[in-house]
Amino acid sequence: MEKNTSSDLQNQFANKAQAWSARFSEPVSDLVKRYTASVNFDQRMAAVDIQGSLAHAEMLAAVGVISEEDRASIEKGMVTVLQEIEAGTFEWSIDLEDVHLNIEKRLVELIGDAGKRLHTGRSRNDQVATDIRLWLRGEIDITIDLLRQLRQKLAGLALEHAETIMPGFTHLQVAQPVTFGHHVLAYAEMFGRDAERLADCRKRVNRLPLGAAALAGTSYPIDRERVARTLGFDGVCRNSLDAVSDRDFAIEFCAAAALVMVHISRLSEELVLWMSPRVGFIDLADRFCTGSSIMPQKKNPDVPELARGKTGRVNGHLIALLTLMKGQPLAYNKDNQEDKEGLFDAADTIRDTLTIFVDMVGGIRVKADAMRAAALQGFATATDLADYLVKKGTPFRDAHETVAHAVRACEEKGCDLADLSLPELQAFHPAIESDIYGVLTLEGSVAARKHIGGTAPERVRIEAERLLAETAA
Ligand code: ARG
Repeated sequence: MEKNTSSDLQNQFANKAQAWSARFSEPVSDLVKRYTASVNFDQRMAAVDIQGSLAHAEMLAAVGVISEEDRASIEKGMVTVLQEIEAGTFEWSIDLEDVHLNIEKRLVELIGDAGKRLHTGRSRNDQVATDIRLWLRGEIDITIDLLRQLRQKLAGLALEHAETIMPGFTHLQVAQPVTFGHHVLAYAEMFGRDAERLADCRKRVNRLPLGAAALAGTSYPIDRERVARTLGFDGVCRNSLDAVSDRDFAIEFCAAAALVMVHISRLSEELVLWMSPRVGFIDLADRFCTGSSIMPQKKNPDVPELARGKTGRVNGHLIALLTLMKGQPLAYNKDNQEDKEGLFDAADTIRDTLTIFVDMVGGIRVKADAMRAAALQGFATATDLADYLVKKGTPFRDAHETVAHAVRACEEKGCDLADLSLPELQAFHPAIESDIYGVLTLEGSVAARKHIGGTAPERVRIEAERLLAETAA
């Protein structure tokens, strides 16, 4: 272990006094200062911190706790502080721990005693909880709008490809023909639920903790509902201990964000697969791909691959936040300072990912011939043949077995079911007639599934148009 050198000690004692330092006999070491400070990451909440402070000051003046002159000079001072922050001239200092103390100190420098009155009746504990909620509310609104744009692009693609036939898979084996439009609309459903989840989460994010003060509330005659109205909150948190301590709203957001990424990762996986020359169903615009430094022929779908990879970090943030919260006694604990980086990163990751996907999905080039050729391999209409026999009075299990025999025969011959002649088909079942060929075609198969939720071009067009109207800006 190294001993403190005298210059370390000089450094320590040269530290500026902390906001709370009057009670302490020695300052913290530089390492502890760095360890406990959050200003490097929470400064991104500066604008909402100021917004919250202005609403608090307005309320303090309205109830007569501070004078109108003090309120006016707080407002004026905060305009300057915000300008300095936006211009990049604000001097952030880790001596002042976090965004709240940095801003307050600068305010006091600018306006003197009025600035020192701002913190009346509040604590950084309810202040930070308010800031996170204000900030997160904005992110939720942006994300919901990005999901709307993505669904609109998917609806456009679906409409364009309502009739494009591809193999539908189960177990990644060719199962039944589907339309590409229908396949694309499946993702629109997922992202629709993601948007619903975020809208629901927003209701619980949008409640005001301010007024809870450190944990027990305050003896000043505050008007919390007034502050809530000023800041656009739907209501106030009803218990001060809970208000300053729980981060369940952030956990909910991370859970919703993780599901967004899980859905993105499923789409990404398909895009990667479809772009493989072995499959060749689509092409992505060059701007979403990169080449290889040694293999000149390569075009790698980097964006979907990375999106698939970034799913891991967002899932990780959810687990980190759950673990952060687990077992925390009431009320505020410094553990909660660790909520921010993961939350910020989760929000940034889904925002960037969705922004890129809105652009990328709109530019997918579909290779319909390759899709069709793939659907013709693998006996995708075998179920249709079975259904045909059922409609002619054969019990489904018997029909299933008959078709299995026919498929085996085709495999041996190296042909498709539709390539068998009528007498050949009739050898498997006498009920088969010449109308069977309408059933065994890909077009016949998809067109028959026209109920709500089905893959028929007719249905896909209805759904895509409904979605286009729903997601119009
Ligand atoms: N930077 C702190 C956080 O992010 C603010 C609240 C600190 N409160 C306290 N009593 N130390 O949670």
